[in-house]
Amino acid sequence: MIITGSIAAFKALDVIRGLRKAGVDVVPVLTKGGEMFVTPLTVSVLSGSKTYTDFSSLEEGYGMGHIELSRGADLVVVCPAGAEAIGRVACGRADDLAGALMLARCCPLLMFPAMNPEMWKNPAVVEHVSRLRSWDVEVRDPASGETACGEEGAGRLEEPLDIVEVILERLGLGDEGGIDLHGYHFLITAGPTRERLDSVRVLTNMSTGLQGYELARQARRWGARVTLVSGPVDSGLRGLVGEGVHVVEVESACEMAKACEEALPCDVAIGCAAVGDWYVPGVTKSALKRPKGEGFGNFSFASTPDVIGSIGLLEEGRPDLVVGFAAETDEGEQKAREKMKRKGCDWMVLNDPREGMGGAFNQVTLLKGEEEESWERMSKEEVALRLMKALSSALVGLRRGRV
Ligand code: C5P
Repeated sequence: MIITGSIAAFKALDVIRGLRKAGVDVVPVLTKGGEMFVTPLTVSVLSGSKTYTDFSSLEEGYGMGHIELSRGADLVVVCPAGAEAIGRVACGRADDLAGALMLARCCPLLMFPAMNPEMWKNPAVVEHVSRLRSWDVEVRDPASGETACGEEGAGRLEEPLDIVEVILERLGLGDEGGIDLHGYHFLITAGPTRERLDSVRVLTNMSTGLQGYELARQARRWGARVTLVSGPVDSGLRGLVGEGVHVVEVESACEMAKACEEALPCDVAIGCAAVGDWYVPGVTKSALKRPKGEGFGNFSFASTPDVIGSIGLLEEGRPDLVVGFAAETDEGEQKAREKMKRKGCDWMVLNDPREGMGGAFNQVTLLKGEEEESWERMSKEEVALRLMKALSSALVGLRRGRV
């Protein structure tokens, strides 16, 4: 594990502890920059291993030390990875031990960036990160929030517990049983839609978007490229998914259908949005007067496009897996199965809107074609995680058969 120069280097100590607790051997390499924030002694005590600092710290007679050191590893982790470390490996520089090790390795490289938000956005860093990702180096998105320098934005090191979890996962030791969504594009719809009745009135529903945003967060967390087409939701949800998720904000069902069409192709499409059923074509630009008497007004409604249905029934370029959500209050399974067929979905997540819509918990039954799994009541975050786990195993099965 390489610790480079960043104020967040102190968090690497908790990561080392967490990994050791999980039984992982940690061989630390501390760069000159890293040494400005934590000492080799602290790192050695916590890791129970010698801390390597530069070429001269390699044992005598260990002629090709950087090669030997990298050969013993199942994974090279850079935590925190400052802009300098990212640039160093993106430019193939081997003028220090950490740089040489990253180039000499024959195992995956996993980097957890930490830097000032302006640095993370700088075109040089953006280019280095995208170059590394194109070489299959896993560069995580940093967390968002207030950074050590007091500025807001993306650049914070992820939390040590999350980092430990990701590392264990990549080593095949995670609780999540090997979720890996790298290389897949997920298209997810979320939230309600809002259909205008006139210039001021709208028709909408109680969906908050939380379940869809949790799905997007989990898909991204396990490596997928994610496009989230979101209806109008509370702005606080935006922070849940971070910079790594491409969010397309829409208002109406027609806009949602168009945004999804533009986001194709994808490998997995999940329709989690509560899409309105009707809209008023050619809606008036003025505010209508309240109708006299009891009536609702004289609107002429048309059916909205079926967003997930038009993806599920695609004849060309259909995603590998299309998943719908069915909110049913009674005879749920029968109705959900019928919906799955009509919309060309492979899977349907059946839930009771009295439980799921608007709250933080959900109780779902996952219909996977003929199979079915009923899950206990759990948080929407857990539902999302369990669904990603199921999708990850299903995708492996699908891809294995390809030549
Ligand atoms: O027919 P119903 O609205 O119950 O179907 C639910 C599923 O279909 C959800 O996955 C929802 O996102 C999707 N849907 C859609 N476009 C519509 C209506 C529903 O994508 N117009």
